Amino acid sequence: MNTTLVNNLRNIFKETYRVEPQIIVRSPGRINIIGEHTDYNNGFVLPAAIDKGIYIAIALTDSDQSEIISLDMNESVKFQADHPVKSEKHWANYILGVLEQFQIEGHHIPPFKMAFGGDIPIGAGLSSSAALECGVGLALNNLLDLGIDRIKLALIGQAAEHKFVGVNCGIMDQFASLMGKQNQVMLLDCQSLSHQYFPFSSGDYSLVLLNSNVSHSLASSQYNIRRSQCEEGVATIAKKYTDVKSLRDVSLSILIENEKKLSQVVFKRCKYIIEENQRVNTVCKALVNSQLVEVGNILYTAHHAMKTEYEITCPEIDFLVDYSSEDSDVLGSRMMGGGFGGCTINLVRTDAASQWIDSCGIAYKNKFKKELTPIMIAISDGVNLVSQATLR
Ligand code: GLA
Repeated sequence: MNTTLVNNLRNIFKETYRVEPQIIVRSPGRINIIGEHTDYNNGFVLPAAIDKGIYIAIALTDSDQSEIISLDMNESVKFQADHPVKSEKHWANYILGVLEQFQIEGHHIPPFKMAFGGDIPIGAGLSSSAALECGVGLALNNLLDLGIDRIKLALIGQAAEHKFVGVNCGIMDQFASLMGKQNQVMLLDCQSLSHQYFPFSSGDYSLVLLNSNVSHSLASSQYNIRRSQCEEGVATIAKKYTDVKSLRDVSLSILIENEKKLSQVVFKRCKYIIEENQRVNTVCKALVNSQLVEVGNILYTAHHAMKTEYEITCPEIDFLVDYSSEDSDVLGSRMMGGGFGGCTINLVRTDAASQWIDSCGIAYKNKFKKELTPIMIAISDGVNLVSQATLR
């Protein structure tokens, strides 16, 4: 836990609102070992919650007006908790969207004061937005004793993002943020939401993230386009195979049989998803059997497929993956998250990591005149309350 951040949050809360927070929640970001864009296609993903998160302080108030302060943006919004409407401030919509979903579920939200801040780099593909939605959900659930279970809270976060933010995301990020377990990755079936935990042990190798510091404004519109291209593929195939409801129900041979009925682009998108689902399951087995070389090779293959078939990478990220592939200390590397920038996730020999990071940084700067930021992560528990003891 980031104690400095929690203390700072608590102090600002007290100074601004003249009361102590009743609850402080820590809500983590996530990594994803493999399985990108498979979640909204009812497929498989292999994420984990991490030790970087958002901290949210909250207390009920007698005043009519609710208020939220974002420490990182140095901004605040005032609103009616029982009448959430879209804000011009983008960050506020993740929270207001959650309030709307609580209302739809029949829960009355009384006025409250909130402040939050975090240490998840924004736009790096570590799901700071899901962390915010899930943290707010759990904070309200606890504060008001609503008895909503964690999976329902994840679904509430996802619905908030669809309706208030306009990104038709899958369930992976919210699920990982709420259901993560320390040192475990989870194999999540996004169709049934059944999930299994596996201890993550990578021997002499570590997971290292490299933040390209590229964050494309295209990301959310292209994300929704990918989703509709997959749906277009399903609709065409379902004309003949009426049991097909999502790409989860489509095998590679059925896809190939239907190739001529699909545009070239839609065919490529569907092929990527079907094969990415297979890659998730292969990586999971290889991890369990400590076959790290195989894990690494599949990460490279997955990246190549994201570049050429799903077309969601960018030159900066492709460069980082190519550069790493020439280094025998790096077993695997791929872009992580929604795409068009963000981080690469890399499986690197621990005792060679710092040299490799330096050399990537120099090469990256020479080529793109941009800084590269390494992010060291540990796999952590999902959203939790910061204990009263820590608050003192
Ligand atoms: C974003 C979305 C997730 C998922 C990933 C790509 O993080 O929020 O639902 O689709 O992109 O795997």
